[in-house]
Amino acid sequence: MTTFDIGTLDDYEHGQATQVRRGDRVLVVVRIEDDVYVLDDRCSHEDFSLAQGEVDVATCEIECARHGAMFQLKDGEPASFPATRPVAHYDVQHEAGRLQVVVK
Ligand code: FES
Repeated sequence: MTTFDIGTLDDYEHGQATQVRRGDRVLVVVRIEDDVYVLDDRCSHEDFSLAQGEVDVATCEIECARHGAMFQLKDGEPASFPATRPVAHYDVQHEAGRLQVVVK
């Protein structure tokens, strides 16, 4: 298991999607209240950045801005067409005020 640092909770705005690059990984980080969700920043329908989409804080989903597919932030599963495959999802640990993304 590997972890890498993506900063602190205050680095992210509630209800906003932020693209974060670490090494060769491109991630989308979404904060909702005190929870932080991390997915690969690549829609599973076509290669498009999810960080450009809108976050629905009520349903805890992110919309792909290209064709409108919705993904659950908690596990990356698609919630609507045209996407049918999940996006990779990563657990986040809080350690001494820092956010650590867990890569297995
Ligand atoms: S590229 Fe995301 S829904 Fe088509």
